[in-house]
Amino acid sequence: MRLDKFLSNENYGSRKAVGALIRRGAVTVNGQAVRSADLAVDPVHDEIRVLGAAVVYHEHVYLMLHKPAGVLSASRDARQRTVLDLVPAELSRRGLFPAGRLDRDTTGLLLLTDDGDFAHRMLAPKNRVPKRYRAVLDRPAEEADRARFAAGIAEGGELFAPAVLEADGDDPLAAYVTLTEGKYHEVKRMFHACGKEVVALERLSIGALELDKGLKPGEIKRLTVEEASKVFAVCK
Ligand code: URA
Repeated sequence: MRLDKFLSNENYGSRKAVGALIRRGAVTVNGQAVRSADLAVDPVHDEIRVLGAAVVYHEHVYLMLHKPAGVLSASRDARQRTVLDLVPAELSRRGLFPAGRLDRDTTGLLLLTDDGDFAHRMLAPKNRVPKRYRAVLDRPAEEADRARFAAGIAEGGELFAPAVLEADGDDPLAAYVTLTEGKYHEVKRMFHACGKEVVALERLSIGALELDKGLKPGEIKRLTVEEASKVFAVCK
């Protein structure tokens, strides 16, 4: 792999920025200062340092996106903007994809990664990774709805697994829902079965990983492997 690509992958800045670092002599490979950005390096075996500090190689990238409304949870679309269009240029060639989907109008926590095993584990129904949402409804949820969610709902020939519905103490039109599966339009269809329509939906957490409150809609932050693994922290 090229040295500038490696450093850019490891979050040392854009290819242009790391190129400037390398030309300044700030980078050493196996103890030798190097000046060429296109030097071929072996990320596993070479010892690469920036300003004396060893660069730790990460095989995969995990990104937290605060998904804005109006963007598709898909890798590419010929006509519409997708979440991949929000990824910084230096990560655009990593083969990233969204781990799971949110509807076009749903906002909140979406993970992007190039780690297929991670996404598979997160989405596998048997792992029952909980996903928490805040829904705003056209009319207040009732106690009877809570019981229906808890029992699981059969609707339109489909069976939705038991889910937790909690009131928002401050806003009678808002409610929190925790699902352990990810069927198409699941929150909206469960409320619809109870005679309520969802007018806004935001995902707040996946497992023990919460949407960073400092992240504005459309913003992305890189997660460490440990942070991303919080997704599995509450699995049985
Ligand atoms: N349930 C929905 O209805 N939509 C989403 O985007 C996610 C869960």
